[in-house]
Amino acid sequence: MTTVLVTGGAGFIGSHTCVDLLEHDYEVVVVDNYSNSSPAALDRVQKIAGRPLIAYETDLRDRHGLDRVFADHPIDSVIHFAGKKAVGESMQIPLDYYDVNLGGTASLLRVMVEHGVHDLVFSSSCSIYGEADAKPLTEADPARPTNPYARSKWICEQVIGDACRRYPQMHAIALRYFNPIGAHPSGFLGEDPLGVPNNIVPYLLQVAVGRLEQLSVFGGDYDTPDGTAIRDYIHVLDVVEGHRVAMERLHDAPGLRVVNLGTGVGTSVLQLVARLSEAVGRDLPFRIVDRRPGDVPALIADPARANATWGWRARRDLSDMCRDAWRFQSLNMAGYAG
Ligand code: UD1
Repeated sequence: MTTVLVTGGAGFIGSHTCVDLLEHDYEVVVVDNYSNSSPAALDRVQKIAGRPLIAYETDLRDRHGLDRVFADHPIDSVIHFAGKKAVGESMQIPLDYYDVNLGGTASLLRVMVEHGVHDLVFSSSCSIYGEADAKPLTEADPARPTNPYARSKWICEQVIGDACRRYPQMHAIALRYFNPIGAHPSGFLGEDPLGVPNNIVPYLLQVAVGRLEQLSVFGGDYDTPDGTAIRDYIHVLDVVEGHRVAMERLHDAPGLRVVNLGTGVGTSVLQLVARLSEAVGRDLPFRIVDRRPGDVPALIADPARANATWGWRARRDLSDMCRDAWRFQSLNMAGYAG
């Protein structure tokens, strides 16, 4: 049995990854401080997968707590999701972002090395590309992060790279994902942020169930066909499959590798609102307001490397994403608490 430690395993992508790992016969150990998630997600993970996992309420910066987890389990690989992830918030509280994202990653790497664990898949972000041209982005494009969240992810990649140089037995892959949305098709697991959502799809879903009045579309004057910002939305299950493949292929090459996970398809905010409205069955209200500080006009992946290296490609389209996201929301009106 291979044991995988999933940090941030109760979060949106982490919880879906846990289901997938359990379904593929991995033993799963979760570490989460539940700062933007709840243990209820892990109950659902275990129900869907029909197998148990082990969870610790621990902050990654708590080295002693983390040390206990590694001492108690024969961990083979780590998938590291835990971190803060809201662009706007990161402009308000940048030091918290560096404290949590960098501090957590450095602490995790240190404890991994101390326990002889050398396999790491890291949750990175397309936001690293920042102020990019409208063309699909390859991993060779330069990093130009525009906000502390993105910068924290970029620095984490470099910290992991430094660890790999110092410890040659280490294998790491940073997956730069574009905009993961959607939910588990069971309708039982999805994205359930605490408080008012920062990200567009959870926000729109709360508009759809009447918990929020209308979407504020951040910026209608971008240099894009309809004036709203373009993103490469990808189904969370495609992202999850990318993690499993990456983990299974860690030993193909030494050191740190960087791989995009995206669809290669760009969707504007207004196109997304229209598609989600179709899934919900009524027009979701919105108004156009000022741009959000730190946002960029367009981010679209060139996913060729993941495809050429692993045969991975995103298999689900925007309709699948909207349908599954709405199924989760409509079956869980008040999220996991409901
Ligand atoms: C950001 C990161 C991305 C990361 C994700 C994690 C950037 C550029 N991207 O995505 O790497 O994976 O956070 O959560 O740093 N929007 C509205 N109204 C809203 C909310 C969003 O119009 O209420 C618009 C945004 O301006 C943006 C799009 O919707 O154009 C998507 O926004 P969001 O879901 O917050 O994700 P990103 O900021 O693109």
